Amino acid sequence: MKIKDGTVNNNSKALLSVNNLKTYFYIDRKAVKAVDGIDFNINRNEILGIVGESGSGKSVTALSILRLLPSAPSCIISGKVYYNNGNLLGLNEKQMQRIRGAEISMIFQEPATSLNPVLTIGKQIAESIQFHQKINKEETSKKVLEMLNLVKIPDPYRRIKEYPHEMSGGMKQRVMIAMALSCNPSLLIADEPTTALDVVTQKQILYLIKELQMKLGTSVIFITHNFGVIAKIADRVMVMYAGKILEQASVKDIFQRPGHPYTLSLLKSIPRLDVSKRGRLKAIPGSLPDPMDKIEGCLFHPRCEFATDICRIKNPEPIKTGNQQYVRCWMYYKKEEVYFKNTIKRY
Ligand SMILES: Nc1ncnc2c1ncn2[C@@H]1O[C@H](COP(=O)(O)OP(=O)(O)O)[C@@H](O)[C@H]1O
Ligand SMILES: [Mg+2]
Repeated sequence: MKIKDGTVNNNSKALLSVNNLKTYFYIDRKAVKAVDGIDFNINRNEILGIVGESGSGKSVTALSILRLLPSAPSCIISGKVYYNNGNLLGLNEKQMQRIRGAEISMIFQEPATSLNPVLTIGKQIAESIQFHQKINKEETSKKVLEMLNLVKIPDPYRRIKEYPHEMSGGMKQRVMIAMALSCNPSLLIADEPTTALDVVTQKQILYLIKELQMKLGTSVIFITHNFGVIAKIADRVMVMYAGKILEQASVKDIFQRPGHPYTLSLLKSIPRLDVSKRGRLKAIPGSLPDPMDKIEGCLFHPRCEFATDICRIKNPEPIKTGNQQYVRCWMYYKKEEVYFKNTIKRY
């Protein structure tokens, strides 16, 4: 498909297609490579999970798509984010405002900080509806109630007049979801939306998002550091580490045969609700690299129990290991390919 800015989108089936996205922050003339050349698609009607430890670049990926980061020179975003017929990174701020909320909307980890404490929740949902849709007051009120019912807020006639501080964390997150879905977006980005909630509420919100996704056909990017949450909600998953994608696969495949050693470590550290509190979680040894440091070879090699010589020299490209599975690991290259790539790098 030919895009307005003259480039070609090779995957026009996808709802959103991210090509070689890089987001660097500049601090004291040094670059923090928060997102470093990632490629992925989100298909229609799909929940794509993004999983990785804190600091791996998940939120910056989401904020780059919606262009909600500081502007240059402190932050430079490059690459392409194709949505419908255009590259979002080529739009001006006014055009971008029409996309945010109406086409792609986002919910965050902490609903309390995203809601205005001095406005009733009814008013806030109404404002988000009227920002994008030209409808009268009466229709707006009807729509607000409809949205509160949709996200299963009990007694919506009473709740509509409440202020955020009168609601529990779970109810506030429901309000955020109602606001995010009020203009019927094609894509919802949920950034750790259940992390601040207790376990029972967490489960309810997950089921709500899944149910609404099926009912409305919205695609969802669901960001979390917890693989257990991915298992409950996502269709496909990508694993991020230090600004790069180390593995992409369907959720079924990643649990049955995880490809990357990092994925394996994340899976081993899933918090289990059914295990006694005395049992300790298996932590991944070491920590994420400092994003300002340059690491030769595979970014994960200092923490990888399978690392060999090649891993310390050259970063592997993703290799297809299954139907929808791509892994960035030398383990899946044949010996002669490894030798060949190694030779190119050195000579
Ligand atoms: N506004 C910013 N300025 C400078 N560095 C940032 C900024 N936002 C994020 N970072 C850095 O980018 C990296 C990725 O952050 P983030 O995407 O928030 O991680 P995650 O959401 O996976 O926990 C981190 O090293 C973080 O410190
Ligand atoms: Mg984050």
